[in-house]
Amino acid sequence: MQVDAPQVLFKNRHLGRPATFDEYRAGGGYEALYATIGKRTPQEVLDIVLASDLRGRGGAGFPAGRKWQGIPAGYVGPRYVVVNTDEMEPGTFKDRVLVNVDPHLVIEGILLCAYAVSATLGVCFIRPSYEADAVLLERETQVARDKGLLGKNILGTDFSFDIHVHRSAGRYICGEASAQIKAISGLRPNPRKGGPRTSVKGLWDCPTIVNNLETLANLPGIVKNGPDWFKSLARTPTGAGTKLFSVSGRIAKPDCYELPMGIPLREILFEHAGGMPPGRAIKAVIPGGASTPFMPERLLDLPMDFDAMKKAGQRLGTASIMVFDQNTCLVGATLNLIEFFTRESCGWCTPCREGLPYVRHLLRLIESGEGKEEHIGMIRDMAKVMQSAYCAFAPGAAEPILSLLTHFEAEVREHLHQRKCPFGNPPPAMHGKACGTRPVAFGPTPCPEDQCPI
Ligand SMILES: Cc1cc2nc3c(=O)[nH]c(=O)nc-3n(C[C@H](O)[C@H](O)[C@H](O)COP(=O)(O)O)c2cc1C
Ligand code: SF4
Repeated sequence: MQVDAPQVLFKNRHLGRPATFDEYRAGGGYEALYATIGKRTPQEVLDIVLASDLRGRGGAGFPAGRKWQGIPAGYVGPRYVVVNTDEMEPGTFKDRVLVNVDPHLVIEGILLCAYAVSATLGVCFIRPSYEADAVLLERETQVARDKGLLGKNILGTDFSFDIHVHRSAGRYICGEASAQIKAISGLRPNPRKGGPRTSVKGLWDCPTIVNNLETLANLPGIVKNGPDWFKSLARTPTGAGTKLFSVSGRIAKPDCYELPMGIPLREILFEHAGGMPPGRAIKAVIPGGASTPFMPERLLDLPMDFDAMKKAGQRLGTASIMVFDQNTCLVGATLNLIEFFTRESCGWCTPCREGLPYVRHLLRLIESGEGKEEHIGMIRDMAKVMQSAYCAFAPGAAEPILSLLTHFEAEVREHLHQRKCPFGNPPPAMHGKACGTRPVAFGPTPCPEDQCPI
């Protein structure tokens, strides 16, 4: 695939298979590591990363260097790095592509982070459906070990570090940083809140840096070429670096694209992803994975960087763009996402555990033509309740729901007027005899199960 934009993370994508150690090395790979270990202090590496404005690519966009600074000064004892490769958010597939393009770029990035925070072990947390990628990472970490870049006394210094690949048992909530720490520790992976940050108390109660895999893969370029080079890659002054955009749905060339941070969404879709297939018109996109809001077509000129999107009431999230055309039912699309979120709720707190099945039930009624006027307000109220949940999972799930009602309420109402899906979708599966939805009594609103035909 030919892309007319600087390819930093995807430099070796033209190979069409994972770059080997020798190929990575021949292109300047591991030069940042050689120029760093034993030659720069960890503080110097931290300063470079702070100056680069590198922000986390896992969804929240938190500055990487500031997170690393959270490790208590003077702490003596083990420190860990967790590489978040869970990637269970529907629509997001960038980390998988990255691992398959350049595993040693990832390994070098993890090593540079470990050096900066003086960690001795990195744990790469990977979802079970990525088994082939876990095997690839294990194979290539062994290559790095054989070359003396992992293990004891790396490059003859007193820096020792190794990487372990940990297979998740497979729940979306395990992607949340504090839940991931618990999952690796063998505990029930419900998120932790209120206590010390993971950079203070993480794996086995020791300081632990949790970063997304793409975040860390940016480090070799930053350390080698400097913070100004990294910032100059972005289109916007508030952005820095390139970004991997996973593009899926109704689009001519669905793929993962490396493009400058801050590029307008319209340009990604129409100049890189081939535009709409013949006869299709764009209706909406979800810009950053399933837990970001629907954006109507008129907002497509927004620059894709964290701050610009936030200012416009949108979210960059994982920059995983799902495209919906004029023939797609957005009630059905939202229901599809809510089926996922309902199944994946960890069940710890009430707004999420009870709110999601409640909304799912009402969306099923509307999609099957059995919806009532009052259901719209009930869905909106419950989505707002979900925003007060214990962790970011349920507020994320509320984003597509609330934006559906903000931008596409007329389409929802059309289901009520026609008493069926105007796009011809069949009544949702699971609605009817085997619905399985438990009665939900929540606040003053009537229980929707009263109207359930079961
Ligand atoms: C429900 C949920 C799922 C998440 N899944 C992932 C994931 O698969 N990968 C990821 O990197 N971050 C995920 N995150 C974000 C992490 O909590 C955390 O912010 C991130 O790993 C930090 O890395 P970064 O600063 O490099 O982005 C998730 C958050 C939530 C609330
Ligand atoms: S919002 Fe509550 S129930 Fe939902 S995943 Fe987070 S802690 Fe668990």
